[in-house]
Amino acid sequence: MKTVKVEASTTYDILIENGLIAACGAYISTIRKNCKIMIISDSTVFALYGETVKNSLTDNGFEVSEFIITPGEASKCADNLIKIWNALANAHFTRSDMIVALGGGVVGDLSGFAASTYLRSIKYIQIPTTLLAMVDSSVGGKTAIDLESGKNLAGTFYQPSMVLCDPETLKTLPREIYSDGMAEVIKYGMINQPQLLDILEADYDISAVIEICVKAKRDIVNEDERDTGVRQLLNFGHTLAHGIELDSDYTIPHGRAVAVGMVLITKAAIRAEKCDKNALDILTRLLIKNALPFSTDITPEALCKAALHDKKRAGGTITLVIPTKAGECILEKTPIENLYDFVSGAWDND
Ligand SMILES: NC(=O)c1ccc[n+]([C@@H]2O[C@H](COP(=O)([O-])OP(=O)(O)OC[C@H]3O[C@@H](n4cnc5c(N)ncnc54)[C@H](O)[C@@H]3O)[C@@H](O)[C@H]2O)c1
Ligand SMILES: [Zn+2]
Repeated sequence: MKTVKVEASTTYDILIENGLIAACGAYISTIRKNCKIMIISDSTVFALYGETVKNSLTDNGFEVSEFIITPGEASKCADNLIKIWNALANAHFTRSDMIVALGGGVVGDLSGFAASTYLRSIKYIQIPTTLLAMVDSSVGGKTAIDLESGKNLAGTFYQPSMVLCDPETLKTLPREIYSDGMAEVIKYGMINQPQLLDILEADYDISAVIEICVKAKRDIVNEDERDTGVRQLLNFGHTLAHGIELDSDYTIPHGRAVAVGMVLITKAAIRAEKCDKNALDILTRLLIKNALPFSTDITPEALCKAALHDKKRAGGTITLVIPTKAGECILEKTPIENLYDFVSGAWDND
């Protein structure tokens, strides 16, 4: 068993082990015993793993109910949040009861928001089942729903009480969704984990890779839980990725957009003589190995226009995450009038 301890506003463990979901009830009992638990999941994940989780919880004395959403981003909405609040209230959940989020980032973000707001907060446990949820969304306590005018526009910072990560659940994940998660894994390597880049170039055990990513995110969250400083490193490739996603009307999945966003910002940094050329070679090799894209049809004009809608923009400047070499990035406040010149450098390299 791999255990990673997070010490943010609250302290909790992330446990990583194959087969863990079948024993989840015993681990969750260490937080609280004999209470009610509502499993929040989507219909695909619940069909695959719901029985296993439910049986383990029931065997350990919990009174279990479930709330199942339709798979997909559209479910991360205010309507479902209100339905969950009502389901909890109708089942007479008190502050001593808990939520278990079983699924990907959509389930995790929505469940976390519900847990942080129902009765002004009840405990929740994350059981992530996508690679993205394991290495990214289940760690760090950002919860959210989407609004009509944009993604993740309402949410809270609220840490889970435990994260149970069972890499065996990844075996049923469709290949494309797995690759999207790999874009975020490669991101950790590029921002501050050079040894991860070497591991990813060889044969590796995914549990070990998940542990490295979780520790990398944990270290950043411990230092800057509320995203005002170093946590912004996690946005490497993301400002431009948001532009690509918006321009494609969200038909390009997030991980693919991040892959291209990382390549463009790296090319721009090389062009501006801020980054070692080798970084682009390593990044491109890893993206190809993981069936991720590394180029785009979008113009720099369209990209910058969309990127400037980014919520990370503060006044007249935008904080860019600029690679300096493979495994090292810096934060640089850039005046928005300079963004186009900098980013369009990525096209000059071709
Ligand atoms: N809170 C954060 O810090 C944070 C960070 C990154 C992303 N996010 C959010 O995460 C969300 C994306 O998460 P995601 O990529 O996990 O998407 P997702 O939750 O929509 O899951 C993707 C698909 O995979 C299916 N699935 C999940 N696990 C499976 C399994 N083991 N086997 C088979 N199918 C499975 C789901 O049913 C779904 O159709 C976005 O809403 C994003 O905003 C949050
Ligand atoms: Zn991302």
